[in-house]
Amino acid sequence: MTTRRRFCTWGAGTLLLAGLGVRSSFSAEARTLRLSHNLTTAHSVHQAMQVMRDRVLELTDGTLSIDIYPNAQLGNQRESVELVQAGILDMAKTNASELEAFDPIFSLLNIPYLFESGEHYYRVLEGDIGRDILGATAGKGFRGLTYYDSGARGFYATRPIESPADLKNLKIRVQPSPTAIEMVELMGASPTPLAFGDLYTALQQGVVDGAENNPTALVTARHGEVAKFFTLDEHTRIPDMLVISEASWQSLSNAHRRALRLAAAESMASQKAAWQRASDAAVSTAKEEMGVEFIEVDTAAFAERTRPIRDRVASQSSRARRWIEAIEAQA
Ligand code: GCU
Repeated sequence: MTTRRRFCTWGAGTLLLAGLGVRSSFSAEARTLRLSHNLTTAHSVHQAMQVMRDRVLELTDGTLSIDIYPNAQLGNQRESVELVQAGILDMAKTNASELEAFDPIFSLLNIPYLFESGEHYYRVLEGDIGRDILGATAGKGFRGLTYYDSGARGFYATRPIESPADLKNLKIRVQPSPTAIEMVELMGASPTPLAFGDLYTALQQGVVDGAENNPTALVTARHGEVAKFFTLDEHTRIPDMLVISEASWQSLSNAHRRALRLAAAESMASQKAAWQRASDAAVSTAKEEMGVEFIEVDTAAFAERTRPIRDRVASQSSRARRWIEAIEAQA
């Protein structure tokens, strides 16, 4: 199947719905949804959500607006999802690590080396499993609308990490995710859970020796000013996720829901290429302007250490085991 034909099967469903008349009928009531996230306005995910906002306005003849609040001004990711779950905030952009605290099914997307490549990642997230995960938490106060690419994560620190042995006794910032904590422990380092917004200072003050993320964090969050070594071990590919409060979702008309689903799927598609460009540009800037050294490593040594995580998550529930097997089969 070509990449084009594979384009987001659940997104394609919403595209079909568009043809069936997203524009057809809007209640007189105009609505504004508030969306919180913790990235800067220069980030490709923020820009993709602007694409979604503009498209929703267009599709609903101006009756559904989205106000986007970047830079964690309405709270960090954890706080924002709590507000969404409580129905106080409409939407949040978070990621599958942060969501683990809200539903263990998200551990699945945090398993190291589960995805063999970017193609494998998209095949899964644009397919049935990706769609089912978006709907998995409807009974818990929120549901997923779409995914955004956040690349492959690697370790970065104030000293070079060339093998798991170099991680021994380093304090590594992780997201507040049980699987990330377990991963870093299995690699021999000490995990320190912190919110993203607190990390720059923690690195600068030596509270942690390093962290793990995609290369854009070096530039957009300026972590490359402090951490001069980035290891390309690609341990996880954790999607950013856009979630909406179940209360807000239920309060929308069917036409507004269809427009939002369609615009969200389109914004995911628009961010795919934008992500790659942003990631490549971040690597160049980090190398050339910040003096960050990128280190190629034998990823098998890192993967070997973390193998128990896959087995632990698979034993969590029959659904988790089924999905892991299905994801592996799509490699
Ligand atoms: C990614 C993601 C952020 C998240 C961050 C983190 O960069 O896009 O939303 O906060 O990882 O490690 O906390």
